[in-house]
Amino acid sequence: MKTIIRNGIIVTASDTYEADILIEGEQISAIGSGFPLSDATVIDAEGCYIFPGGVDPHTHLDMPFGGTVTKDDFTSGTTAAAFGGTTTIVDFCLTEKGKPLNKAIKNWHKKSKGKAAIDYSFHLMIGEMSDEVLTELPMVIEEEGITSFKVFMAYKDVFQADDATLFRTLLKAKELGALVMVHAENGDVIDYLTKEALANGQTDPIYHALTRPVEAEGEATGRACQLTALASSQLYVVHVSCEEAVKQIERARRAGADIWGETCPQYLTLDIDELRKPDFEGAKYVWSPPLREKKHQDVLWNALRTGGLQTIGSDQCSFDFKGQKELGIDDFTKIPNGGPMIEDRMSILYSEGVAEGKINLNQFVDVTSTRAAKLFGLYPKKGSISIGADADLVIFNPFVVRTISSETHHMKVDYNAFEGKQVKGAVEVVLSKGKVIIQDNEYKGTVGDGTYIKRAKYGQSLRNAAIAEHV
Ligand code: URP
Ligand code: ZN
Ligand code: ZN
Ligand code: ZN
Repeated sequence: MKTIIRNGIIVTASDTYEADILIEGEQISAIGSGFPLSDATVIDAEGCYIFPGGVDPHTHLDMPFGGTVTKDDFTSGTTAAAFGGTTTIVDFCLTEKGKPLNKAIKNWHKKSKGKAAIDYSFHLMIGEMSDEVLTELPMVIEEEGITSFKVFMAYKDVFQADDATLFRTLLKAKELGALVMVHAENGDVIDYLTKEALANGQTDPIYHALTRPVEAEGEATGRACQLTALASSQLYVVHVSCEEAVKQIERARRAGADIWGETCPQYLTLDIDELRKPDFEGAKYVWSPPLREKKHQDVLWNALRTGGLQTIGSDQCSFDFKGQKELGIDDFTKIPNGGPMIEDRMSILYSEGVAEGKINLNQFVDVTSTRAAKLFGLYPKKGSISIGADADLVIFNPFVVRTISSETHHMKVDYNAFEGKQVKGAVEVVLSKGKVIIQDNEYKGTVGDGTYIKRAKYGQSLRNAAIAEHV
């Protein structure tokens, strides 16, 4: 099976140029011009950009959380991702203290196998560093190809791990070749502040934000950075929302630490006032960390542009407004945390970032695809338009203006945080491993064609990247 994409403008993390792409089977076999058209399916990309498929390093699909389960599962979540131009996700596999890691991983395979529209992989949550966990970790890396571990510094009595666990995870990750990810908020302080708010009768959604101050995120981010330096290890801070956290990451990077930061579309474009909406509508905007004062958005865009932050995750974690967010109608601490973002991640970054002149096209590709592929051991198979890479490609028309709405989105959840927002640019065609899966606003793929990816160890794909860029 041969496909040729003609007349488009190829955009990678480093270059922008006109060329045709020849795809044979699942991979890109040549980039150039004058390919014979006779025995190939030809896609005309005139007037469009061709991006490498998006890599979303942060999703929660089919995940139990806050007394319920996320609305989007591996089928609806990955299909919606594809509509938005994302062709690879890395989802968080939750574990339980005292239970084998192997059991948790099997459970996540059961949720996803045969159900995904695009390729996927897993990060693994570490809640404790027991002897059993230490014994299992080499298997997790060697056999499962799970080369990133997630530690929560918040959600006391649910997911939160102590500093000893974080430190030991950092040491072990260094030894085994994995990247440690942290949710950096001071869970103990937040626990104190939320109890105090409830005792004062402060139950509305806005108190979710007011009890999770920027200092709690800045402090935890700084602590995680210091512990990483002490362990000479490597760290990736997820969903950075504020200046206090950005400063800590930038300072640690300047000092030479191997530390990376992710932010999300919601923190770049929405602010704390969303949580003040009447009739409990503020609950739609309950994320942790919370949405911040507007001034933080400039800091985040600036950090993306100048390299202080390097990736965009969706933190997809969707709950219906009706019946799920409503669990917290009398008590903000019972509102399930998270929102639907997997579909609009790239759209928001293009429209608010590239079209508004805050980042350039190549930076857009880097932060939505290439950098995450490099950090999480997927590059150059993913996140790259190069010979031998998977033909995961997005044909993107920058001239179309469209309106985001839950009426037309493909996530299962009953609202969209960007309802009514006009965005510039639209995904026209998406290919996953050489097959067209999105065209004419329809899903053309086969659910189950998305397969599990075992990832390279941390640093290995950076070395691969260096070699690939060199040849
Ligand atoms: O509110 C959020 N972010 N929900 C998802 C879980 C997490 O903390 O990433
Ligand atoms: Zn042209
Ligand atoms: Zn988190
Ligand atoms: Zn998350």
